[in-house]
Amino acid sequence: MRLLFRISVLFVLGQLLYKTVTQRCGSEISIFGWMLRGHIYSTMLEDLPHTCVQVCREDDRCQSFNWVISLLKCEFSNRTKEARPEDFISDPDRFYYKRDRNRVPLGSIPELPAETCLEIKKSEGHAISRKYWFSSIKTGTSVLAYCDMKTDDIDECSTNSHSCDVNAVCGNNLGSYTCACKPGYSGNGRTCSGKLNKCQNYQTLTDADRKTSYRTVSSPIRDVIGPGWFRFQGAAGTRMATSCPPLYRCNTNAPGWLNGGHPSVADGQVTRQVCFNWSGLCCHGTVNVQVRNCGSYYVYYLREYGGTTRYCGSD
Ligand SMILES: *[C@@H]1O[C@H](CO)[C@@H](O)[C@H](O)[C@H]1NC(C)=O
Ligand SMILES: *[C@@H]1O[C@H](CO)[C@@H](O)[C@H](O)[C@H]1NC(C)=O
Repeated sequence: MRLLFRISVLFVLGQLLYKTVTQRCGSEISIFGWMLRGHIYSTMLEDLPHTCVQVCREDDRCQSFNWVISLLKCEFSNRTKEARPEDFISDPDRFYYKRDRNRVPLGSIPELPAETCLEIKKSEGHAISRKYWFSSIKTGTSVLAYCDMKTDDIDECSTNSHSCDVNAVCGNNLGSYTCACKPGYSGNGRTCSGKLNKCQNYQTLTDADRKTSYRTVSSPIRDVIGPGWFRFQGAAGTRMATSCPPLYRCNTNAPGWLNGGHPSVADGQVTRQVCFNWSGLCCHGTVNVQVRNCGSYYVYYLREYGGTTRYCGSD
């Protein structure tokens, strides 16, 4: 039995060596005494390399295989020696066999992602600048990204999988990319915080005497407040008053109200004027505040104004 094996192996080898010689002028298919290392995705014990040829043709990932003479084993690779010439090394116990038929171009399907643009160019002999599948951007998954074949640069920003924050701008550069937080946000670009956080990081104004309906009886008080983000809640109402209240309301002398109305969510953070009604003028005193619509409520960036004034709430 063993003898039979050896004979068949020698026979096959002889055939293949013959093929190598005969095919030297055409497509180079098998190369004795060489192997491609480092790209083997599966192996198979098989008496005849012919079966390996068949198996390789049926797997989109298969670009080439090594045949291990002493072990009667084939090692399927997802690269060719053209793509990775540095991994093509001599080995007297193997021969290298490039897929002869229907080889899938590197980077053309998600199952066969490339690592660099240069690799695609080397593998295919030529390549045009367009989107290819890559594994190098996000490990474990294939992503489609634009390849500039002139500069061999992958445009990571063309993918959805770059690691910039949703509130950041992605900037492509050679070999890499940058993330910069959008105006109004701060952070390193991979994480940006700002506008949204204000909707979660605020203090509350909840006292019933802050409402415009509250009549100041005696000992009016003043706001010693902020600077910081505040939300009107509970007995103080749901938002700042938006029309001029009468004097001596919300437990102060000069009640404050928001002039210009509230922004929509899409408006983002806006600057508004707060007016204090005093001495016959609805806007006797004014101060600029920041306002943001957080969907179901508002937040205000408030600071102490002075005098006997307060920011008043309403429903
Ligand atoms: C290609 O083969 C290598 C092993 O050499 C493996 O780590 C990698 O995951 C394979 N790629 C695919 C897409 O199968
Ligand atoms: C503002 O205050 C004045 C008194 O200074 C008052 O006459 C007026 O009614 C107030 N405005 C409103 C809209 O209530």
